Amino acid sequence: MISKNILVLPGDFVGPEVMSEALKVMDWFSSRGLIHFEIEKGLVGGSSYDKFGTPLTEEVINLANKSDAVLFGSIGGPKWHDVNYDLRPEKGLLNLRQSMGLFANLRPAIVFDALVDASSLKPDLVHGLDIMIVRELIGGIYFGEPRGIKKIKDNKRVGFNTQSYSTEEIVRIARVAYDLAAKRGNKVCSVDKANVMESGVLWREEVSKLRDEYYSNIELEHMFVDNCSMQLVKSPKQFDVILTDNLFGDILSDLAAMLTGSLGMLPSASLGSKSQDGKIPSLYEPVHGSAPDIAGKNIANPIAQILSLAMMLKYSLNHDKEADLIDDAVQLVLSENIRTIDIFEGVGNPVGTSEMGDAIISKLEIIAAN
Ligand code: IPM
Ligand code: MG
Repeated sequence: MISKNILVLPGDFVGPEVMSEALKVMDWFSSRGLIHFEIEKGLVGGSSYDKFGTPLTEEVINLANKSDAVLFGSIGGPKWHDVNYDLRPEKGLLNLRQSMGLFANLRPAIVFDALVDASSLKPDLVHGLDIMIVRELIGGIYFGEPRGIKKIKDNKRVGFNTQSYSTEEIVRIARVAYDLAAKRGNKVCSVDKANVMESGVLWREEVSKLRDEYYSNIELEHMFVDNCSMQLVKSPKQFDVILTDNLFGDILSDLAAMLTGSLGMLPSASLGSKSQDGKIPSLYEPVHGSAPDIAGKNIANPIAQILSLAMMLKYSLNHDKEADLIDDAVQLVLSENIRTIDIFEGVGNPVGTSEMGDAIISKLEIIAAN
C-alpha cells in the first residue's frame, strides 16, 4: 500500500490534546491496514516560538510543502500576547497558509440530528442545517500592503491596513465555490461590502461575470456582510454555499459554527492550486482556537479535530469510504449521548477528551465489523 505523508502540527494549549485523539484514529486505520500513514510531527505557533524563537520554522514549511497533507491543531494564547507582533503564534498559521498557497478555506457548518438542541437557536431553525462557507484565505486585509502603525504629529499614532482583491484572486476562489455548489444545492451567496468598499464592487462584478460565463446553472445571490450575519441567525437554512473574503469569512464562520451548537464540532479544509505533479497543497484544522481556559483538563471536544482528519481523507487522500466511516462513528457516539461538556445536555456525565476519542474508536470497530 502506498503510504501517505502527513505532517502533524498540534500547536498550543488544547491543540495537542485534541490532536492525540485524531492520532488514535489514524493509528486505528493503520493497524487495520486500511490506510498507511507516514507521520512527521512539528512545532508551530507559541510552542515553536518557545523553542526556536519563531512561530514557524523553514523546516516546518519545507515539510509541509513535501507532505500529502497537513493536519493542524490550534495555536495562540495569552502567554504570547507580549511577543513582538510579527512573531506571534497567529503569524505562524498565517505564514504557513501563505507559504503553501492555501487560498481556499472550506468551512462546513452542519447540524448533527443528535445535537439539534445544543444550538442556541430554536431547533426548527437549524434542524438539518448544512452550509459550506468558502473563505478566501491568503488575500484581502489580512495580507494587504501597506500596513502598520505609524507616528503622526504630537506623539499621536495611526494604525492602518489595506483591503485589496485582484480579479485573479476573486476568480480563483469563486470557482471553488461554484464547483462545490454544483455538487450540493447549486446555490451560491456571495458576501461583500460593496456599498462601502471598492474592493467589494470588484468582488461582486467578477463573481457575477464568472457565473454568467461558466456557471449559468448555479443560482447566484449577492449579500452585504451585515445583512448576511443577520440572515444567518434569522433563517440559516436559506444558504447553501457562502462565498466570501478573508476577514468576513473569519467572522461569519465563527457565527455559523455556533449555529451548530459548539465550535468544538467543526472542521475545515484549506486548499491551494494543483501543481504540475497533480498534487493539491492542503491543510486541515478545526475552526476552534487553542482555548487556553480549558487546556490541560481533558475536557476539550476532539470531534472538530477528528472531523478535520475525515475531511483530509476525503479531499486529499481519496479515501471517501474511510472518511464516511469517521462521520458515521461520530454520529453514533452523539446519538448515544456520549458528550463532552461543550455539547452536554444533562444525560449521565460528560466525557473527557480522551474518552471521546476512545468512544469514536469503539464505534469505528463496530461499524467496520458490520
Ligand atoms: C481562523 C483563526 C485565524 C484567522 C487566526 C488564529 C489567525 O481565527 O482560522 O479563523 O483569523 O484566520
Ligand atoms: Mg477565526
